[in-house]
Parts: sequence; structure tokens; C-alpha cells
Amino acid sequence: MKKFELYIRLAVILGAIIGITLLHYNTPLTKPMLHDVFQRLYYIPIILAAFWFGLKGGIGTALVVSILYAPHIIFQWGDRPMLETEKYLEILLYNLVGGVTGFLSDQEKHRREQLEKTAAGLEESYRTLQQQSALIISIEEQLRRAERLSVLGELAAVLAHEIRNPLGSICGTAEILKDDYQPGDKKFEFLEILLKESDRLNRVVEDFLRLSRPQPLSMKLCNISKELRSVVLLVQAEAQDKGLHVELKAEEVLELMGDRDKLHQAFLNVILNGIQSMAGGDTLTIEARWGGNLNQEHSEIQIVFRDTGAGIPENLRRNIFEPFFTTKTDGTGLGLAITKKIIDAHRGRIEVAANSPKGSIFTVFIPVGAS
Ligand SMILES: Nc1ncnc2c1ncn2[C@@H]1O[C@H](COP(=O)(O)OP(=O)(O)OP(=O)(O)O)[C@@H](O)[C@H]1O
Ligand SMILES: [Mg+2]
Repeated sequence: MKKFELYIRLAVILGAIIGITLLHYNTPLTKPMLHDVFQRLYYIPIILAAFWFGLKGGIGTALVVSILYAPHIIFQWGDRPMLETEKYLEILLYNLVGGVTGFLSDQEKHRREQLEKTAAGLEESYRTLQQQSALIISIEEQLRRAERLSVLGELAAVLAHEIRNPLGSICGTAEILKDDYQPGDKKFEFLEILLKESDRLNRVVEDFLRLSRPQPLSMKLCNISKELRSVVLLVQAEAQDKGLHVELKAEEVLELMGDRDKLHQAFLNVILNGIQSMAGGDTLTIEARWGGNLNQEHSEIQIVFRDTGAGIPENLRRNIFEPFFTTKTDGTGLGLAITKKIIDAHRGRIEVAANSPKGSIFTVFIPVGAS
């Protein structure tokens, strides 16, 4: 009960008692009918107090009423013994009604509290149930993903064998044939296209293999800032051609035990995606820093890739790490799946969010004690 409400209730009860008592004392005894009415009016504050404040309130108010009403009986009605006795009986009734109503109100309050407690318990169980079902769904999703990856692994081994060897022969033959033509010749250009496309096909097969084969990590001390710098250097020319800005803000030394080549690959995939999503004037900012909780400030390294490109619609964000999910005509959809696999292998995690006002933010967290 709020303080304000409490004061109002107390004022109502007190006001009623004082008002009725004044009426008793100031009404001449020649009007017994009115006195009979006033006498019964006392039940109103007594019952209200019992409802609002329980047993204590009911009995307390009945006692106050009795004390205030008694002198009136003794001194004013004293010479009419019949009526006097009846009024003493009324006082007894005040206390009885106050006590019984207060007791029932206390019981009711107790039952209500019990019900509220049960409802809160039920709500809590419902919430836990919801969390558990969400967990089951996510585990099921992971299982399905693992299943798909293992089928993919077997398929990849066969495919790699079937594609790579003839591809090698095709490239070799194309190289030999190219020697017979001069640049500018139509056939020379066709052979160039053939070599370029074969190279792309080869890359797809390699990506495929990288994703599906279990590849042990080769852990060495590596400086994340240095890896990021070398990736940025690699893509800088392409970015400049498109009129994009790539900015790297990294602490000088961010070292952890990790697989340098694989982390390099993971960062490259994310950065390439950023560049591919942007147009002239856009900026990709890469920030790398120490992270962790209050107790262990340097327990992980956080790398944030923030682009101002086309962005990813919210409903697609959960699909982008799936193998073969792509929205690009020439994409394989393996880049982020490989990145996730590498980060997972380092016991880290990768998260995606929308950038403001446009673009995407990819955040990679890698614990320092990864191996
Ligand atoms: N920074 C980004 N901005 C906008 N869309 C993105 C970004 N990064 C990823 N995506 C979306 O996620 C999809 C999957 O990315 P992923 O790198 O796995 O494959 P891809 O880039 O399409 O092909 P590739 O195998 O050549 O990398 C992309 O097709 C694109 O729709
Ligand atoms: Mg990609």
C-alpha cells in the first residue's frame, strides 16, 4: 500500500469515528431514534478498518469506538438502565464484528498472497521452459549443420579428386596453346578467359576442401595487428580502384596463440565481403583491441569490422554463416562459413549486426588462451 493511500484510509476511519461520536454527544436524548442510527453507523469505520488493516485494524477500531462511546452511555444514558444495557451489548457486538471481519480479511489476504506466489512460480517455470526450448532448437540447428558439413566432407574429397586433376591438365594445355598466339589475338583472349575461369574453379574447390576437411590448427604466437595490416595491404589496391577507404586502428601488440594462416584467411574473407558490399566513397573501418570482463581485462582480443556498404537484411543475418549461402552472382557462399569454422576452432565467436546509418558490423572475439 502506498503511503498516500494509507493516510487517506486512516483519515476516513478517524473522520467517521469522530463525526459519529460528535453526533452522539450533541444530539439530545429526546431523540432515541437518531441515537439508534448513530449507534449502527459505528459499524462502517469498524468494518472498513477490518477490511483494510485485518484483525488488528478491526479490533483496534472497535476498541477506540468502545472507549469513545462508553462515557456517553455512562453519563448520558445512565438513568435509563434498560437502554444502557442494550448499548453495552452493542459495544460487545462492535468488538465481535471487528474481530471476525478482520480475521476473515486476513485469511483472504493470505490466500491472495499464496495465489500470487503460485502465479509468479508458474511464470518463472514458463520462462525457463521457453529458454530451454530455444536452446533445444539451437542445438538441433547446430546438429543439422554438423550433419550437412560431414556429408559435405565426403563429397568434397570425391569432388576434389575428380575436378582438380583434369583442371590441372586443362590449365597446362591452355598455357601451351597460349604460347602459339600473340596478345591481341582473339584466341589468345579466349585462352586467357579459360585460364582465369579455371583458376576460379580451382579456388572454389580449395575453399570447399578447407571448409569440409578437418584441418588441425598449427598454433604459434601471432600478432593480430600484424595479420590485419598484411590483409589490409593485400586489398588496398582493389579498394582504391573502387574509390573506397579502408582504415585500420589496432593496438601495436595484440598477441595470442593461434594459427596465423587460418586467421589471415578468416579476416580476409570478412574484409573482402565488406569491400564487395561498398560503393565509391564508403569506408571500412577495422578496429582491434584487448577485451574481456572486469576481472580479466586482457582475456580476449576483439576485432570489429565496420562497413558502410549495402548491409544485410535482418531476416538473412542468421543464414550468412551457412555454407553456400550467397546473394552474389559470382559468390560461392563459403567465405563466412570458412571464417566461422576458423574462429570456432580458436574457441572464439563471430557476431553480425547492422551499422548505422547503413552497412554491417562484424565482431570477432578470440580468447587469448585458445589452445
Ligand atoms: N559486409 C557485408 N555486407 C553485406 N552483405 C554481406 C556482408 N558480408 C556478408 N554478406 C552477405 O553474406 C553472404 C555470404 O557471404 P560469404 O562470404 O559467405 O559468401 P559470398 O561472399 O557470397 O561468397 P564467397 O564465397 O566468394 O565469399 C553474401 O553473399 C552477402 O549477401
Ligand atoms: Mg565472401
